[in-house]
Amino acid sequence: MNVTVVGSGYVGLVVGACLAETGNQVACADIDERKIGMLNEGKSPIYEPGLDRLLQRNLAEGRIRFTTDVADAVREGQVVFIAVGTPPDEDGSADLQHVLAVARVIGQNLVDEKVVITKSTVPVGTASKVREEIEKHTDGTFHVCSNPEFLKEGAAIDDFMRPDRVVCGIESEGARPVLEELYEPFVRSGNPLIFMDIASAELTKYAANAMLATRISFMNQIAALCEAAGADVTMVRRGVGSDPRIGASFLYAGAGYGGSCFPKDVRALIQTGEEMDVDLSILKEVHETNERQKKVLGRKIRTRFGEDLSGKSFAVWGLAFKPETDDMREAASVTVIEELLAAGATVTAHDPVAEEVAREWYLGDRIEYAQDEYAALSGADALVVVTEWLQYRRPSWERVKAALEAPIIFDGRNLYDPARMRRHGFEYYPIGREQVR
Ligand SMILES: NC(=O)c1ccc[n+]([C@@H]2O[C@H](COP(=O)([O-])OP(=O)(O)OC[C@H]3O[C@@H](n4cnc5c(N)ncnc54)[C@H](O)[C@@H]3O)[C@@H](O)[C@H]2O)c1
Repeated sequence: MNVTVVGSGYVGLVVGACLAETGNQVACADIDERKIGMLNEGKSPIYEPGLDRLLQRNLAEGRIRFTTDVADAVREGQVVFIAVGTPPDEDGSADLQHVLAVARVIGQNLVDEKVVITKSTVPVGTASKVREEIEKHTDGTFHVCSNPEFLKEGAAIDDFMRPDRVVCGIESEGARPVLEELYEPFVRSGNPLIFMDIASAELTKYAANAMLATRISFMNQIAALCEAAGADVTMVRRGVGSDPRIGASFLYAGAGYGGSCFPKDVRALIQTGEEMDVDLSILKEVHETNERQKKVLGRKIRTRFGEDLSGKSFAVWGLAFKPETDDMREAASVTVIEELLAAGATVTAHDPVAEEVAREWYLGDRIEYAQDEYAALSGADALVVVTEWLQYRRPSWERVKAALEAPIIFDGRNLYDPARMRRHGFEYYPIGREQVR
């Protein structure tokens, strides 16, 4: 099948690469010349495990191409995916300008019948807007569908290749066989391809992310209670999560959720509720709890060292919003580091892959960047762990202790065992567990 994917970011590239891998002829289009330039040289503009290899192989075998000529790419696709960003607008609602800009190009270039699939996360009702925008420019035949993406950055290829489910919102039967054919290689082991109406598909994506975010904020509030009551949130999590009605995932207390999806999708859903006069107050609390949670590490540090941190220096392990990605959108690291800098401290950070992104977009030269995790510690008054990269989980405590000015650790991801930290002679401040002083 000839497939066009418009938007070559985290989602568009994974969709394009995986569809090329299964034999489709894929054109990936983007208006960002730098990204397309890198892709044409066989380099992925983002860090996503396995993506480079997939892109290079399919590029070499002629199944995928990259272009800034969106109109040309649209003309050749029997199926056109819209996978552009939907960032939050000022009021938190999803900004649809990029999605509708692509719809316009599709309308202007509808040379034959096409299936237009929205992959971007968009509020309920967007498919109608996409249809109207296309219809302004053509009388041709097309089918609008909603096919939200559930991949997780860091495991995106695997998630796309082996999805738990594929949700397809359709309004005309013409789209169904095309979606079935496209997804058939990925649902062979019985994981469902769920067809539904478009509004339900659009809402499914937001409801899923809002539910996961709710679990995290819920556990962060329980963690605060654990600290007050002398309980251990990691024990509570194990006890609660082993109930099959609840399940164990997304119950980790920490320094708050970040990334390109949960924060913006929760806010967008709250906004949709307001527009439709439906009470989603539970989600307002989820969002506000998370905003407060991102400041928990800063608060613990100031409680220990005082409000004025001039002359203090801190080592930060982890900049990406989670491991196995270089994505720093809404990362807790930025909140913590900004607070430390504002209080007069200096910061040296390490991240296995996100340094370039941090330098270019978030922190510039306002902090130092270390080559490895131990180099970041040199002379620091404390270590602050923000992202749970594997290599931070079992460090050499001798090296950590020798490098730090004082053996003090603030752990925003509960990576270490308080009893072990006591034995190693550290002051240790986790989230929702016993502090070691
Ligand atoms: N990142 C994730 O983990 C994830 C998971 C599921 C769903 N989503 C959703 O998928 C969508 C895309 O997310 P992303 O993380 O890939 O975003 P991204 O910012 O990484 O990529 C979006 C790309 O779209 C391009 N673009 C913008 N306007 C364009 C236009 N008019 N024509 C062509 N290209 C254009 C941008 O240059 C950019 O490269 C969002 O709606 C997001 O909520 C993201």
